[in-house]
Amino acid sequence: MKAAAQEKFAFNKENEEVFQETLKKYPTKMAVLLPALWLCQKQNGHLTDEILEYVAGRLDLSPVHVYSVVEFYTMYHRRPPGKYHLQLCRTLSCTLCGCEELREHLAKRLGIAPGEKTRDGLFSLEEVECLGSCGTAPVMRVNEVYCENLNLEKVDKIIEMCKADKPLEEEPMGAH
Ligand code: FES
Repeated sequence: MKAAAQEKFAFNKENEEVFQETLKKYPTKMAVLLPALWLCQKQNGHLTDEILEYVAGRLDLSPVHVYSVVEFYTMYHRRPPGKYHLQLCRTLSCTLCGCEELREHLAKRLGIAPGEKTRDGLFSLEEVECLGSCGTAPVMRVNEVYCENLNLEKVDKIIEMCKADKPLEEEPMGAH
């Protein structure tokens, strides 16, 4: 029996359909870059070099351009993130409202520094620039969920909920 060759990345059937539909909605292939990368990340969990080359090929763009876009946006992961990826805002409003204390608390509780992942793969921590919710600073995004008006107590609650695999959407983490 032949050894299975390592499969190259390609959109699965469902995502290929979404990709084709997205192409129809935008005036240029260049404009499809962000949604195409997002789709790849949704499928693979993170963006490998191979995937960036694939996207460049599909959109007739230079790989250098695709790499630079991916490096610019914090929403794209170049390495597999933790099951819960914590993105803590460190821009002005959040800094004035105490994000440094939250970062230290998170780092201590999880035993990781920004840019790292816990050994069990449950959490990864990243500091990011403005998440666009300055009015409810300090803010942290946990995967897709915005957790706002944070304090140490709320951060502890978030960690406990993630550990218990409870959906954060069920808790009032938003602005109030
Ligand atoms: S400064 Fe933190 S969300 Fe804008």
